[in-house]
Amino acid sequence: MKSYKHLFSRALAASPGRLHFAAHSHHLWPDASYDGHMAAWDDAAVLADKKWERVFGEVIPEAQANIAHELGLPDPSTIGLAPNTHDLLMRLFSARRGSGPIEVLTSDGEFHSFRRQAARWEEDGYVKRRVVPCEPFSTFGERFVAALREKTPDIVFLSHVMFRSGLRFDAIEEVAALASPDGMWTALDLYHSFMAMPCDFSSVADRVFLLGGGYKYAMAGEGAGFIHAPPGYATRPSFTGWFADFGAMEGKQGEIAYGRDGSRFLGATYDPTGLYRFNAVCAMLAREGVTTADVTARVAALREPLESAIASGEAGVLREAEIVRPNASGPNARFVALRHPNAVAWKKALMDANIITDARDDVLRIGLGLYHDGDDVPAFCAAAARALA
Ligand SMILES: Cc1ncc(COP(=O)(O)O)c(C=O)c1O
Repeated sequence: MKSYKHLFSRALAASPGRLHFAAHSHHLWPDASYDGHMAAWDDAAVLADKKWERVFGEVIPEAQANIAHELGLPDPSTIGLAPNTHDLLMRLFSARRGSGPIEVLTSDGEFHSFRRQAARWEEDGYVKRRVVPCEPFSTFGERFVAALREKTPDIVFLSHVMFRSGLRFDAIEEVAALASPDGMWTALDLYHSFMAMPCDFSSVADRVFLLGGGYKYAMAGEGAGFIHAPPGYATRPSFTGWFADFGAMEGKQGEIAYGRDGSRFLGATYDPTGLYRFNAVCAMLAREGVTTADVTARVAALREPLESAIASGEAGVLREAEIVRPNASGPNARFVALRHPNAVAWKKALMDANIITDARDDVLRIGLGLYHDGDDVPAFCAAAARALA
């Protein structure tokens, strides 16, 4: 197995004893991201007032093209950018009009960004949720689509890959078939699939909103949230910033116009450094000839021995956990999910020994990435066995 550690030399050298197995959470930043980060500073210094011409003229179009390429989208201009996906989901919901509460169909596996906000909105009567349980995993897709057909909601919001279990939702075509600009809208949270596994949304790009960001598998850090907004849907978010109609700045004042493309989802002044990092990482992957499919295959080849080693006791007490395997076939999430009541305590003991994983409720997540090699599997197991003894 070829090593790619040299591409992460700065982050690895910054903490030599650390065993970092949270690539699904805070992915280590590759060296290319450092160059991107510094390019953002240089542009601010050299271009000063003209910086935004570079950002809007080059940096954003390059980021849009990279995202569209990853997701199989036909038109990069449908993509709008924001510091995080929460801003974008706020704008999406704010574009929905109606008399009563917004009826939402969702799952019980959604990340806090949506779960918390939706729960709070529900307190105010702004939304009303129907929540489909993820378990049993094997029937989730079927049950979700059945709930949709039973009563069409105003908005469907769910994750493509669930953050806790790694369950993948494969029935997006069936959902998209019911979508329309004046009827049901569908939003898929791609945070755990974007650049984590090959994704092709070309067949639903005209009907489905896609949300994601740079923090995890895109290896770009914070500040690079995105939405793909299908043309004709959600044309006038009421939570809107002045970037959503950049053209109006020097024109006639008073009119609330919106870009027709993804720019209708833009907010206001923000730090574009994350986009510079994201573009630099994408350029590095292209230079190295590494695609998302390659990284997925590499991680799958590491995951198998890691799971067997854990099951056979090489990582000590971790063998007592249930290895969650929610998908019968196809690409898996980029982390191993171990379910056990001690998950949080284990994560803490591992962290104290400088072995970085994370825990969500009763699930310990161990994330693999491009910076792991075959040797890292036994290294993790031996260190974990010691730390948890
Ligand atoms: C499924 C999912 N969605 C979204 C996010 C991030 O949300 P935000 O961009 O609002 O911070 C995460 C981060 O862990 C996530 O796991």
